[in-house]
Amino acid sequence: MTSTATAPRRDLLQIRGLSAGEIVTLLDAATKWLDPASVSDRLAGRTVINLFLEPSTRTRVSFEIAAKRLGASVVNIAAASSSLVKGETLVDTARTLDAMHPDAIVIRHPSSGAPQIVARHTRAVVINGGDGAHEHPTQALLDALTMRIRKGRIDGLRVAIVGDVRHSRVARSNAHLLTTVGSDVVLCGPRSLLPEGIESIVGEAPGKLHATSSIDEALEGADVVMMLRVQHERQQESFFPSIGEYRTRYGLDAERLRRAKPDAIVMHPGPVNRGVEVSPDVADGPQSVILEQVANGVAVRMAVLDGLVGTRKTTD
Ligand code: NCD
Repeated sequence: MTSTATAPRRDLLQIRGLSAGEIVTLLDAATKWLDPASVSDRLAGRTVINLFLEPSTRTRVSFEIAAKRLGASVVNIAAASSSLVKGETLVDTARTLDAMHPDAIVIRHPSSGAPQIVARHTRAVVINGGDGAHEHPTQALLDALTMRIRKGRIDGLRVAIVGDVRHSRVARSNAHLLTTVGSDVVLCGPRSLLPEGIESIVGEAPGKLHATSSIDEALEGADVVMMLRVQHERQQESFFPSIGEYRTRYGLDAERLRRAKPDAIVMHPGPVNRGVEVSPDVADGPQSVILEQVANGVAVRMAVLDGLVGTRKTTD
């Protein structure tokens, strides 16, 4: 028995609350899995359930590939084919899955806090794959890894996060992570798409967090420009007059990008609304790292699965 075998179960539900040291340790661990040829049997005999109750391409596939590269078996459950459409509660779904002894449950859910609920009703490790407008921890980790690879550091960067900040779990997780490690974050979008009390998003942190409705101000001197998708599915009311107006005021094109540092990188968590938040020439241009983010996501998820599941006994 290793000393970690009896350690209490650890989940990854949010970035908020992680220390800079814990974040860097995870990024260091992910670095070891960056080579797509790296496989292991660390999770042989283990079962990972992907419980995805909201649409997903890259996150679900990324977790599946990560788990399989570590030797685990993967079961995928999608909203339309689950008993949730028959009226089963999330708690009953969690208990039902738990009875089959999975080692990890990766959950994506439209409601903030759903992963916490599942965690209370299973013995499996729970990993948040995105809950409502709350958090998306592995996305922030893969974004940070991409920044570290491209910029050589994650502290002291100026990061502009532009778009539908209000509904974005990606923005929230990134704001927590980046300010914790000492970067300066500027959140930018139409006033209606910036959450109230921005500063309350983060607690005590060495980095700084600002908000502005001026994209020119946000881009000025940025090392990293992270564009967000307009989350139509989370908007019950109209937050801006038209897509055309949004593109004119907040879309990133080559001319606007010149305000950022010449070596700035352009990021987007995907899926991209081409021609809305980012023009095709920028999305496919030399400063874009969008597909590197996707590639790095597998390494981050391998590190998270290995760190949380690989160190536990099957009987825990
Ligand atoms: C993001 C998400 O689902 O929060 N996508 C992703 O996981 N890469 C961002 C989005 O949907 O806009």
